[in-house]
Amino acid sequence: MKITLGEGKTPLLRAPRLGKRYGVDLWLKWEGANPTGSFKDRGMSVAVTRAVERGITRIVCASTGNTAASCAAYAARAGIEAVIVVPQGGAAGSKLVQVRAVGARIVEVPGTFSAAYEHALELSSEPGSLLVNSTNPDRIEGQMSAAVEIVEQLGRLPDVVTLPYGGGGNTRAYARGFEAAVGRLPRLQPVQALSRGDTVASAIRIVDPLHRSFVEDALSRSGGSVVTVDDAQILEAWRSLAHDEGVFCEPASAAGIAGLGRGAARDGETVVCIVTGHGLKDPDAVDR
Ligand code: F0G
Repeated sequence: MKITLGEGKTPLLRAPRLGKRYGVDLWLKWEGANPTGSFKDRGMSVAVTRAVERGITRIVCASTGNTAASCAAYAARAGIEAVIVVPQGGAAGSKLVQVRAVGARIVEVPGTFSAAYEHALELSSEPGSLLVNSTNPDRIEGQMSAAVEIVEQLGRLPDVVTLPYGGGGNTRAYARGFEAAVGRLPRLQPVQALSRGDTVASAIRIVDPLHRSFVEDALSRSGGSVVTVDDAQILEAWRSLAHDEGVFCEPASAAGIAGLGRGAARDGETVVCIVTGHGLKDPDAVDR
C-alpha cells in the first residue's frame, strides 16, 4: 500500500518581475506546496512505503527541520514510530511543532548536523528501525519526480536549474531525474551559504555535505558550478520573492534566487529556480 499525503505535482510559476531584474525567463518550482510544506515529502512517501513493506516499525532521521516534519508525518500516516534527531537549537520552531503535532519523538543533540546524523545512524541500527535521511536511496528516487514534472510543465528542459545546496541530496536527485526523463542535464547551479555553519538559512546549516562527491560529478557533466552567497544576499532574495512575486518561502529556499545575483545564469536563459520550503516553516525570520 502506498503511503501518501498527496505529495508532488507542485506548481511551476512564472516569475516575470524577478525574471526581468535578472534578465532571464524565470520559473519557480514551488515545493512549499507539498503536504508538510517542503520537497522532502516526495522522497519520504517512497521511503516510508518501502519501509512498511519490509516490516519496519520505526523510522529515524537527523534533520535541520524539514526532513523531520516530513518523516514524522509519513510515519503517522503509516502507523509506525518516528524518532527525530536535531542539532540543539538548529531547527526552526514551526518545524518542531509539525513533528510534535503528529506525535513523533524529538531528540536534541549538541553540536552540528553531523553530530545529529551520527546519533541517528546509531539509533537506526536497532532491529526494526530504518534511517530515512537522504542517504537512503528511496528518498533520492522519490525526489527525482520533481525534475520529471519540470520537463512536462515547461514542455522542454530549462537551460539552468538553481537550488539551495545543503547536504546535496536534492541536487543529486534532480540530476538523476533529468537524466532519466530526457537523457541529459540542464546546467545545474546549486547555491550554498558562504557561512555554512551558522547561516541565517537554518535549513541548509550543514558544514559537510553528505553528497558532495555526487554533486561535483553531476556539475562536471552539466557544465554547472557551486555558487556561494552570503546571508544578506539570501535575505534580499527571500524578501524579493515575497514582495515581487507573492511567494513566501523560508530563507534557505531563496538561495537559488540569490544565486542569480551571483552569475548563476546568463542573459536570456530559461531558468527554473527550486523554491524548496514554505515561509510558515520559519515565521520568526520575518521579524528578525
Ligand atoms: N531547502 C530546504 C528548505 C531544506 O530543508 C533543505 C535541507 C535544503 C534546501 C537543502 O537540500 O540537503 O538536499 O541539499 N534540509 C535538510 C533537513 C537538511 O534536514 O530538512 P539538500
